[in-house]
Amino acid sequence: MADIRAINVSVNGRAYTREVETRLTLVDFLRHELNLTGTHVGCEHGVCGACTVLVDGASARACLMLAVQCDGREVATVESLAEDGRLNPLQQAFQDHHGLQCGFCTPGILMTLTEFLRDHPDANEVEVREALTGHICRCTGYQGIVDAALAAAKRVRGSRS
Ligand code: FES
Ligand code: FES
Repeated sequence: MADIRAINVSVNGRAYTREVETRLTLVDFLRHELNLTGTHVGCEHGVCGACTVLVDGASARACLMLAVQCDGREVATVESLAEDGRLNPLQQAFQDHHGLQCGFCTPGILMTLTEFLRDHPDANEVEVREALTGHICRCTGYQGIVDAALAAAKRVRGSRS
């Protein structure tokens, strides 16, 4: 018999109470229970990074976490990034610098970079590339992604000064 638990979780600032199977992964919870399909599922083994979200502000592989582990916590997905229906500076930089092609890797990379640039607004190219080592992109060759991250960091620094 399935083991069911009740959880209370905040996702993108909205509170949810759900009864879930204890074996349900966070990524399946987001996609199938909450219909937040921006978070992608690739390898399901913690390798590709496509499922990356923020849990209490720290990046996490949603394929390796269980929904019950998020009880009482705050989750942010790629759907949280746009501001008033407009791309945020990081998303806009991806569009401007050809940081995506098929877009499969993009939501996870955006979430990792959201955390990274928040904590390292002065990052250089080497540091950005290190931050991206947990993500696999089969399309871009990464240069456009790095260019976008550096452009977004510059824009955020400018808006703070
Ligand atoms: S689907 Fe989670 S790391 Fe690949
Ligand atoms: S844009 Fe296609 S996998 Fe990265």
